[in-house]
Amino acid sequence: MRISVIGSGYVGIVTGATLAEAGFKITCLDILEEKISDIKRGISPIYEPGLERLIRNGLDSGNLNASTELEKHIANSDVVFVCVGTPSNEDGSIDLQYIESVSKTIGKSIKDSEEDIVVVVKSTVVPLTTEETVQKIILEESGRKRETVGIAMNPEFLREGSAVDDALNPDRIVLGCTDEKSKTALMKIYEGHTCPIMHCDPRTAEMIKYSSNSFLAAKISFVNELANMCDKWNMDFERVAEGMGMDSRISKQFLRAGVGFGGSCFPKDVKALRRAAKNDGLSSEMLDATLSVNEKQPEIVVNMAREMLGELKNKKIAVLGLAFKADTDDIRESRAFNIVEKLKNENAEVIGHDPQATETFAKETGITCTDDLEEALRGVDCVIIQTEWDEYKSIKPEFLCNLMKKPIVIDGRRTFDNGYFTDSDVEYVAIGLGN
Ligand code: UGA
Repeated sequence: MRISVIGSGYVGIVTGATLAEAGFKITCLDILEEKISDIKRGISPIYEPGLERLIRNGLDSGNLNASTELEKHIANSDVVFVCVGTPSNEDGSIDLQYIESVSKTIGKSIKDSEEDIVVVVKSTVVPLTTEETVQKIILEESGRKRETVGIAMNPEFLREGSAVDDALNPDRIVLGCTDEKSKTALMKIYEGHTCPIMHCDPRTAEMIKYSSNSFLAAKISFVNELANMCDKWNMDFERVAEGMGMDSRISKQFLRAGVGFGGSCFPKDVKALRRAAKNDGLSSEMLDATLSVNEKQPEIVVNMAREMLGELKNKKIAVLGLAFKADTDDIRESRAFNIVEKLKNENAEVIGHDPQATETFAKETGITCTDDLEEALRGVDCVIIQTEWDEYKSIKPEFLCNLMKKPIVIDGRRTFDNGYFTDSDVEYVAIGLGN
């Protein structure tokens, strides 16, 4: 089976590299020369643990190839995965320009061929997009008969930071096929997996993706609201979460309170689902609340800084963790932006630290950023932890006391266990910890 993967962003490159590892012949396609030449040289276009090793394996075995010649490779493929981005428009709806242009390219590429082809949408798209946009454009552009083109929607559930493992060992596979051709091809591609495989129509597959992300985002906003109550009533929300998580219906996962969710998926997907619902006259109070709680969370750590330091003007504050979560260099929708903006509005002097994301964050915000922890901590009045990197978990209290002007730690991610700083001079406050 010859497989092309269009779009070498986070979904595309992980899909391509893991399918190559499983033994399929894969060509990763992208219009950006730089990404393609990186992949060809065994360099991952994104920071993702374990990914570069898979790319190199694929290149060595000859299973993985990369190219900017989209039409040529699409025309020679049995299966094409569409993995291009679906960014947000101003009003929260998704911008389908890349989906539309790739659908046109696919249509053009298969125009003069008689061979069967299967097109699988992996990009996150709102319900009906696969049928009403992708399928429609491909058939119009190619002039091909419907029965020669298989169309399916196969959402991805990868988490950044553990994407390789998630792709190799998924919890579930959802196949929204419109025809037997696409079903047969996808069952062959996923035959090595033992997890449950759900079959449905494309719109249901699209909705499963949005519903899953929105549910998890809502769960985070819900626990953040509860954690704020725990702060007020002086108790540790982590103990509450521990008790809640013992109920298998609730589950232990996604009960971590903090400065809120960021990343390229949750904020964008909740907004897109809300907009799609509104466009069709449906209310979305849960989605509204999910987003509004999330907007308020970064304010809490800034308020904590003000309470501990008084006026923030000219205070030197280090924001530790700029990536939206640990083990990624992705800063999209990172809560660090909201925190830094609020601190700057109060004329604090801000320095950012991150093991992976300093360059992009400094470029976007103009603040000084470093990947040297000592440099970040030297002489600061307090630190605010925004990302729970392992590097921070092993910070010793003496290290902070020696470097900082005042050893004050404001933990926006519950990075340290309750009691970690007892018997030290470090003043420690955290979201949902109580006094
Ligand atoms: C999320 C989903 O978890 C994946 O299943 C999905 O495939 C992916 O979006 C996507 O649509 O591509 P991701 O954005 O990589 O994955 O990251 P998560 O681990 O879900 O974390 C998202 C945000 O929620 C982070 O800012 C994280 O710090 C925050 N979070 C997570 C919490 O505040 N509390 C928690 O308990 C868990």
